Parts: sequence; structure tokens; C-alpha cells
Amino acid sequence: MTQFADFDTRNYRTVDVRTGYGQWVATYEQTVEDVMDLALLDRLEQPSWTTVRRAIDLGCGTGRTGAWLRNHGVELIDGVDLTPEMLAVSRRKGVHQTLTEADVTDTGLSSGSYDLAIASLIDEHLPDVAPLYAEAFRLAEPGGLFVMVAFHPHFIMTAGMPTHFTSATGEPLAISTHVHLLSTQITAGLAEGWVLTEMREGVIDEGWLAVKPKWERFRGHPVSAAFVWRKPG
Ligand SMILES: C[S@@+](CC[C@H](N)C(=O)[O-])C[C@H]1O[C@@H](n2cnc3c(N)ncnc32)[C@H](O)[C@@H]1O
Repeated sequence: MTQFADFDTRNYRTVDVRTGYGQWVATYEQTVEDVMDLALLDRLEQPSWTTVRRAIDLGCGTGRTGAWLRNHGVELIDGVDLTPEMLAVSRRKGVHQTLTEADVTDTGLSSGSYDLAIASLIDEHLPDVAPLYAEAFRLAEPGGLFVMVAFHPHFIMTAGMPTHFTSATGEPLAISTHVHLLSTQITAGLAEGWVLTEMREGVIDEGWLAVKPKWERFRGHPVSAAFVWRKPG
């Protein structure tokens, strides 16, 4: 089995998701790079964002993904996240209709309520991605889409770097990170009944190097991946 510990070159102290994001929230939006996820969303040919009726934003965090959706014409968005401090920032941003504190694998929201589910930059925190594909499938209406943006396993392994932040005391802290091979994502989605309709990979390119010049050594390496899945029906 592929385990992050086998690749870890940083050996930072690791905290759980709620503890980690509860602290990172103070600097999260200044440190996460839009080229990681939003640039990939920009490249997707589907969904037709302006025709989305209602979206569920799984792992909505501070509302970055939600704000991007609103800017691309998605009017109604509900959000779910495990970390109350991240949800509080989202609440102030005001881009979601409802915000629910829950695990993305067991949201408690109504089945078949959404024509779009989206989960961006969250998969590496899940020990197993299959329950996320299952919950998104339950929440989606027939014909609905699931957009999943993932931290690329190649990059996690090559850089040996977990998702991490610098705490208020200056200590670098890792947030529990798991490596999911691309085949693991595909297998989980197909097993649930999703149909893969589009896939993109983001690489360390000029856009990346403009914001992270010290990543020159990673030029050309894939760093993120986006999958678009459709629920039959
Ligand atoms: C890197 S942030 C991404 C937030 C937002 N989608 C974005 O792109 O900025 C990851 C978020 O996922 C949340 N998260 C991680 N595991 C979760 C789980 N099992 N259930 C719900 N939320 C989770 C964290 O609390 C955090 O807010």
C-alpha cells in the first residue's frame, strides 16, 4: 500500500485536520496558490457553470472554491466542512446558501439534491477516497456532475512534502496527508457508478514559477489533477 510516511522528507509534527485547519485558517488564503486548483478549474470544458442549478461544495474551507463558482455564474451553493474556524471565514464571505459542519463522507444532506458536487484540495486528507465518491454520488441527481481537484500523488511523493503550514509559533506543522494514486481515484469513481468525462493535470509551469521560483527543480512535474465525473441518468 502507498503510504505518505514512505516518502516524507520533512518529518514535520503531524496534526489532524480540525486541529491543523483550525490554526492555518489565519494565513490559509495568503498561502494557498490559485494555480494549484483554480487554474485547473479554468481549464475544464465542463460543467457549463452558468447552467448549474445548485452545487454542493465539499470541504469548502474558507470559501475560495465557492467564490470561484459564484464568479463563474453558479448562484446556489451549499458548503460542508469539518473545521469550524474555516466555516466561520466562509460564513463571513457569504458565497454559500448554507454551511454545514460535517464530514464530507457523511454530510447528512438530502440525496439527489445537487446537479454539481465539487471537492477541491481535500482528498489528501482522507485515508480512503471511496467514501467521498460514494457520498458525492448520493448527493448528486441523475445526470449530475462531480468535479474533484486533487493534490497530485506524483508531487507528494517526489517532493516528499505533506500539506503543511507554519503555526503562530513558527513551527512547520503537517496536516495528516495520504497519497492516492490516480488509479485509486479512477477505481473508486468507477466502482461507485460514476462515468469519467474529463481529466486534466496541472504541472509546474511558468505560472507556478512566477509565484514559487524556488520550485524550479520541479519544472514540468504534475502537481494537481482534476476529474469530472457524471452520474448516469
Ligand atoms: C486545503 S482546504 C480546501 C478548501 C477549499 N476547497 C479551497 O480550495 O480552498 C481543505 C479543507 O478540507 C476540510 N476537510 C478535510 N477533511 C475533511 C473531511 N473529512 N470532511 C470535511 N472537511 C474536511 C478542511 O477542514 C479544510 O477546510
